[in-house]
Amino acid sequence: MKKIVEVLPDQAALIQRSRDVVLTKIQEAIQRSGRCTLALAGGGTPKPLYEALASQDLPWDKLHIFWGDERYVPADHPDSNQAMARQAWLDHVDIPATNIHPMPTDGESPEADASKHDAQLGDFFGVAPDQFPQFDLILLGIGDDAHTASLFPHTQALQVGDRRVTVGNKDGQPRITFTVPLINQAHCVMFLVAGAQKQPALAQIFAADADPFTYPARLIQPQGELWWLLDQQAGQAVKG
Ligand code: 6PG
Repeated sequence: MKKIVEVLPDQAALIQRSRDVVLTKIQEAIQRSGRCTLALAGGGTPKPLYEALASQDLPWDKLHIFWGDERYVPADHPDSNQAMARQAWLDHVDIPATNIHPMPTDGESPEADASKHDAQLGDFFGVAPDQFPQFDLILLGIGDDAHTASLFPHTQALQVGDRRVTVGNKDGQPRITFTVPLINQAHCVMFLVAGAQKQPALAQIFAADADPFTYPARLIQPQGELWWLLDQQAGQAVKG
């Protein structure tokens, strides 16, 4: 694993730098395999990045968009990660509808929809049920509790090792989420973190020793590149 940690002076610089890294990773993936598979993060921090990407002209037919996790709400719900990314970015660009691969949330149960998306990933990547395909780029954030995607502290989802997609649990609220082994198979994982309130979580994530089941972002150790892009406020926690 190659780890890159950058602390940017402010939020505007964080968004500009993350945009440039994302654009570079998209180009590298297309040169490598003729397409790019990009999984998006939810929450508030990446929204200005998606808005910045909306003004970029990209080879849309070669870009496939997925989500690392989703709230178990309808696709047009204000809390939907899919809805946020569509409104901020995807609705404004000429990407084929078939290149957008949202997590289903309209089936009979979260478990059924997690299995459905697991199978959808298998079909898309052409791999067997027990295999973990390699995403080109997975964007992640962290919560104040050091959760990432919908992998929350001391939840069952953290232990899932035989599936690509599982059900997350945020205080009893179901979520659909990529599993740790799927995320760690990625070519590149990029964390985007902003704000002083994230300092305690970052301090534990970057600590020499801390329990990964209490601080789940510690479980993210991809076989490829791991980028941490932090703004000044968040970055105070990792400055030596
Ligand atoms: C979600 C996310 C989640 C998010 C963190 C940080 O669906 O909520 O995928 O993991 O990245 O909760 O959220 P903020 O960026 O809003 O602080």
